[in-house]
Amino acid sequence: MKKILLILSICFLVIQCKKSAPKTTILETEDHRTYGILADSAMVVSAREEASKIGLAIMKQGGNAFDAMVATDLSLLVSYPFAGNIGGGGFMVYRLKDGKTGSIDYREKAPLKASRDMYLDKKGNVIPNKSTLGAMAVGVPGTVAGLFEVHKKFGTLPIEKLMQPAIDLATNGVVVTKHQARMLNAYRPLFEKANKRTILLDKEWQVGDTIKYPALALTLTRIKDNGRDEFYKGKTADMLVEYVQSLGGIITKEDLASYEAQWRKPITFDYKGNKIISMSPPSSGGICIGQILKSIEPYNINQYAHNSLEYVQLITEAERRTYADRSEFLGDPDFVHVPIDTLLSPYYLSQRMSDFNWDKATKSTDITYGEITLPESDETTHYSIIDQFGNAVAVTTTINGAYGSKVYVKDAGFFLNNEMDDFSSKPGEPNMFGLLGAEANAIAPQKRMLSAMTPTIVEKEGKLKMVIGTPGGSTIITSVMQNILNVLEYDMTMQESVSQPRFHHQWYPDDIKFETTFDSIIFPALRNKGYNIDQSNSRIIGKVDAILVLPNGKLEGGADPRGDDSAEGF
Ligand code: DON
Repeated sequence: MKKILLILSICFLVIQCKKSAPKTTILETEDHRTYGILADSAMVVSAREEASKIGLAIMKQGGNAFDAMVATDLSLLVSYPFAGNIGGGGFMVYRLKDGKTGSIDYREKAPLKASRDMYLDKKGNVIPNKSTLGAMAVGVPGTVAGLFEVHKKFGTLPIEKLMQPAIDLATNGVVVTKHQARMLNAYRPLFEKANKRTILLDKEWQVGDTIKYPALALTLTRIKDNGRDEFYKGKTADMLVEYVQSLGGIITKEDLASYEAQWRKPITFDYKGNKIISMSPPSSGGICIGQILKSIEPYNINQYAHNSLEYVQLITEAERRTYADRSEFLGDPDFVHVPIDTLLSPYYLSQRMSDFNWDKATKSTDITYGEITLPESDETTHYSIIDQFGNAVAVTTTINGAYGSKVYVKDAGFFLNNEMDDFSSKPGEPNMFGLLGAEANAIAPQKRMLSAMTPTIVEKEGKLKMVIGTPGGSTIITSVMQNILNVLEYDMTMQESVSQPRFHHQWYPDDIKFETTFDSIIFPALRNKGYNIDQSNSRIIGKVDAILVLPNGKLEGGADPRGDDSAEGF
């Protein structure tokens, strides 16, 4: 009886949500669980309602998840300039309906004129802001190459059809939300500083204002008409190079003309019978999430309550060791050898955890990277899509900081990334996310900077289970990891999971960062054991957008309530 009531209430709620098309509506059901938006066949969860709706409309017209990816991505460029982009890069992990998996890397690259010490002064000190603000911070963008490559391989609808909604959105304008008004106004002084002049977005924005992007509409139209080369070799490339160079940047036409996206083999590993498929280097995401989950796997974490003292301790210690390894070993695999097999091997990880002590925090000063002895075989946004055919894509894309380098290509209407800051400017010197790096992530011409982006797909018993990812810089890995545990170990719905308070540790600084909503009841006990706690910063940790395939086959969207994020399905 209970079951029937549950099914009826879910059906009722699905009808309701179809009627009102809410954003992050949370549904209370008879089983006292909180579900996100539910759908029968297809779903998009992204940072903006416009983008999710446009992606979904493409699938309603018969397009697949890859078609929807192109349309959603370009709609985020227009509706979410904070992170959506053609001036940045990203990663996509996919799982086809037949179970085949893969990934594409369209990460930015260092310009040909980049050099190892380009952000250091004569004394060898890091020059403040040089790798984050303005033209010198910009890496060679990969997004347009990535989208066209995906479309070429998997797309089914004509590219014109996929690009038109974003062109229309740019022409007709986007309504400013509360979050957006706050961010645009807060960053205005930096827009002016980076561009040495005012830009389109330089005004005091109010909620409900409409922003139109006529120059961007023209740029997208040129790309639609002339193809990907318009961005890399055409008028748009000229505009980009000219503008960046006028601001003292080093990107050349050769940099753009030689950019190529790369198909890569994703990182896959088993966690308690679930297959986790995530991004390989130059993202650290897949390896780090694998290291953390495999380090905690032998401890059977679900014997401890969710977010309890023991839960936080165990995860913190696994994270501390993982981020120490990240700093030493991870970088662009086209330039450095990354010892993937060792880093993910249960023996290596058990050695790494062998000095973990339940009574006392390990100090980060006592931790360095592990010993690799085994022979080796060889500001961001995320969206998740499942189509009506059963294909799934997880995409995380970024221009790094909020509005990237703040450089807004005059006449072409888009922001450029400040991804160069993801390199290690100097060994031991933290980047804007406090992450340390070493030789493996040193700057070199045409090298890709190390990323933490973790677009991830989870499979259980050969079936698609979850599509997930988030922005959040260094906290991306730990946010995705906590959500995987929420669902796999604590049986949460996707909406319950994304709404949970989160925490994060990254080796250095040696603090556990907690969201302000995290219950502080465990803090005294943690302090007693020697842990440093940082809840001072009201910054949220991640904005997770995910889809869960429920046991009855329905799709449940988890749209993070921390932003304007929105799940749309049919
Ligand atoms: O690739 C990376 O790891 C970073 N550039 C991601 C930046 C990010 O998530 C910013 N958003 N909060």
